[in-house]
Amino acid sequence: MPERFKNFTLLDYPLIKRDITTIRDYRTQPEGFRSAVKRISNILAVEISKNFKLKKTEVQTPLEKTDGYELQEDVVLVPVLRAGLGMSAGFLEIIPDAKFGHIGLQRNETTLNPEEYYFKMPKDLETAEVILIDPMLATGGSASEAINYLKKKGARNIVFACLVASPQGLARIERDHPDIRIYGAALDRELNEKGYILPGLGDAGDRTFGTL
Ligand code: PRP
Ligand code: URA
Repeated sequence: MPERFKNFTLLDYPLIKRDITTIRDYRTQPEGFRSAVKRISNILAVEISKNFKLKKTEVQTPLEKTDGYELQEDVVLVPVLRAGLGMSAGFLEIIPDAKFGHIGLQRNETTLNPEEYYFKMPKDLETAEVILIDPMLATGGSASEAINYLKKKGARNIVFACLVASPQGLARIERDHPDIRIYGAALDRELNEKGYILPGLGDAGDRTFGTL
């Protein structure tokens, strides 16, 4: 990984490479797309949760008491509407007691700037482990804006999870939010003139929800 993307963790696993291939394929229908996204999101959730703090507890087995553990902080999943919803199911399978926040952002396809239309967060964001979820990190405008909102609401422990990142998007987040770690399943080559990631997978929202 080039040194300039030191805040980026690329999940370089065979099962991810297989599923990324499925979602890149233009022939994959929404059902197949969603199930591959869910499996990749399972693995992202496991990887990200490696850094969660634990609290010691005690548990009574049928035979005796022994040490146990619980998560020290709440986990808050924050999908960016709408494409982020496609990844939420996979995260929720791994972290079933997570709370949810939602951020509605739509990229203006002329200016490529994100426009907000919805924002709702649970309480106590200050201490929570917040996972911002959006499949595509293209120009980085949407992710940067979403992180601004979360920080304004007091969130301090934020990571960003995506499927496909572009070099431009990674550079933008590193510049705007050097404190944020990004986890992704693929690092692609570049953006085209319309701000789409190449080779990419097309419009993630449309492919997830069948609105092509
Ligand atoms: C997509 C994607 C990101 C954004 C990425 O959403 O899910 O939110 O584009 O682009 P950026 O890095 O250049 O900001 P889109 O605006 O297409 O909305 P949708 O999820 O409703 O389809
Ligand atoms: N949004 C998408 O859904 N796909 C891209 O390639 C870029 C932005």
